Amino acid sequence: MNILETKGLYHDFSKLQVLFDVNLQVKEGERHAVIGPNGAGKTTLFNVITGTYHPSRGKVFFKGKEVTGARPHEMTRLGMGRSFQITSTFGRLTAFQNIRLAILSKKGIRFQFFRKVDNMSAITEETDQVLKRINLDRERNIPASMLSYGKHRALEISLALATDPDLVMLDEPTAGMSKDETHYAVQLIRRLTEGKTLVIIEHDMDVVFSLADRITVLHYGQILATGSPVEIRENQAVKDAYLGALEV
Ligand SMILES: Nc1ncnc2c1ncn2[C@@H]1O[C@H](COP(=O)(O)OP(=O)(O)O)[C@@H](O)[C@H]1O
Ligand SMILES: [Mg+2]
Repeated sequence: MNILETKGLYHDFSKLQVLFDVNLQVKEGERHAVIGPNGAGKTTLFNVITGTYHPSRGKVFFKGKEVTGARPHEMTRLGMGRSFQITSTFGRLTAFQNIRLAILSKKGIRFQFFRKVDNMSAITEETDQVLKRINLDRERNIPASMLSYGKHRALEISLALATDPDLVMLDEPTAGMSKDETHYAVQLIRRLTEGKTLVIIEHDMDVVFSLADRITVLHYGQILATGSPVEIRENQAVKDAYLGALEV
């Protein structure tokens, strides 16, 4: 079954056409990588799927239900979690507070009520469990902006997962990481997405080919190919357009 599907998706920014007839299919339980050169439209595709933008044309289906145009918080409630290419943590809040905020927003508890729920031990407990799972329990009370780059990005990845989504969408989670940090992040992603569906935009081909069950290649806003890592590696159109240049 496809947990996520787009049908004939188009998007443009004023006159700039960015997505053309994108028919993406993500199967339940798979790890699906979206790759393609800079400017191909990968982040825009995420933004259209997660409700940040309304598509110019076409439809988005999540868990078999049409969700085109649903707002981001509705998508979160339906079971979709996402991370951003640009850091979206609250730098002055601690690791604990960032995770708690993500958990509270999923539960629909608004900021005004924050102080009251401050003492809610169930939420505190849930937050501490997440911190432990992501090995940030020792950094619990450190402001996000003071964390090392790798730990900060790990927190970022975890925010997408703090709401326990069925589908996790990560936009270049390893961008700017050292080799060690990337290795750690991939292990974290693998562990945290166990039993879930993952869609990941990733530029590091080692990560893509080690993590993904299936790969979709986006090129100038169109899907060039979808297939297993072996199929993508051997696809002539993909080699010509993209992978060849990277010597994969
Ligand atoms: N908010 C925006 N307004 C106008 N143009 C945009 C906006 N976001 C992205 N673009 C343009 O859309 C194209 C695709 O961008 P993007 O989806 O970020 O690509 P990718 O994530 O694959 O690098 C690029 O040409 C980019 O400049
Ligand atoms: Mg992008």
